[in-house]
Amino acid sequence: MRSRPLTKAVVPAAGLGTRFLPATKASPKEMLPVVDKPAIQYVVEEAVRAGLTDLLFITGRGKRTLEDHFDRMWELESALEAKGDDKRLAMVRESADLADVHYIRQGEPLGLGHAVLCAAAHVGDQPFAVLLGDDLIDERDPLLTPMIEAQAEHGGSVVALMEVPPEQVSLYGCAAVDGTGDVVRVTGLVEKPEPDEAPSNLAVIGRYVLSPSVFEELRHTKPGRGGEIQLTDALQGLIATEPMHGVVFRGRRYDTGDRSDYLKAVVQLAVERPDIGPEFLTWLTTFVGSRT
Ligand code: G1P
Repeated sequence: MRSRPLTKAVVPAAGLGTRFLPATKASPKEMLPVVDKPAIQYVVEEAVRAGLTDLLFITGRGKRTLEDHFDRMWELESALEAKGDDKRLAMVRESADLADVHYIRQGEPLGLGHAVLCAAAHVGDQPFAVLLGDDLIDERDPLLTPMIEAQAEHGGSVVALMEVPPEQVSLYGCAAVDGTGDVVRVTGLVEKPEPDEAPSNLAVIGRYVLSPSVFEELRHTKPGRGGEIQLTDALQGLIATEPMHGVVFRGRRYDTGDRSDYLKAVVQLAVERPDIGPEFLTWLTTFVGSRT
């Protein structure tokens, strides 16, 4: 077992969000609302539930509203206080009190691997988690906690894997694995392979618990797919020297990475909400009925 608990998480958030233009021209894609919360807040809440209380966002130009969101907002708080609106006041304060949040800017968008490398000085020599903002994991289906446990047991690094239809593997990092069950040994990783070159239909989804050795590996990782420094390539490099495992996730995951998936995520999460869900579902059922 590790001596110190794992508390640090890195959240890359420097992407330009081009798939959501023009909405993301002047505001970050991480702040797009999923029902009534910015997408990124779901990710932060997931990290905090798993005991990760030190969060480092890797940001870039145009991400100020993200920083504001996880900070106090005195004017709004005073106005809500004066009105006696305790419910909304608690809501506004909640996002500022969730975790100990830090920021570093990536400068140039050189890829996910490069974004993670920007965290080296902050993370130091302990294992740490990486959470990608496009993937939302249902809070009823734990993923990070079993990953942290697997890392404590086996050492090295742990990636989150999910079975996807073979035609979708080219959208993800893809793993070659040994074994079956919930925790498997990863023997190879390839970034966005063509379906006929994919080693399996196990895709890497956006959760990682990484050994700090990944930083040294990233320093030597050449640009790969798309000319970017890929985290997947660095992890493939680590397999030769350190254990690498995959936790196979079979729970509910909502992708907010493109417009259609984002809309599906909003609808699914809205239906689940106790406050607006029942009324929304009634409307949705009638709406769908009228279209078929
Ligand atoms: C990134 C990673 C990829 C991973 C995916 C998960 O790709 O490079 O290996 O499978 O996240 O969402 P992106 O979606 O940023 O293109």
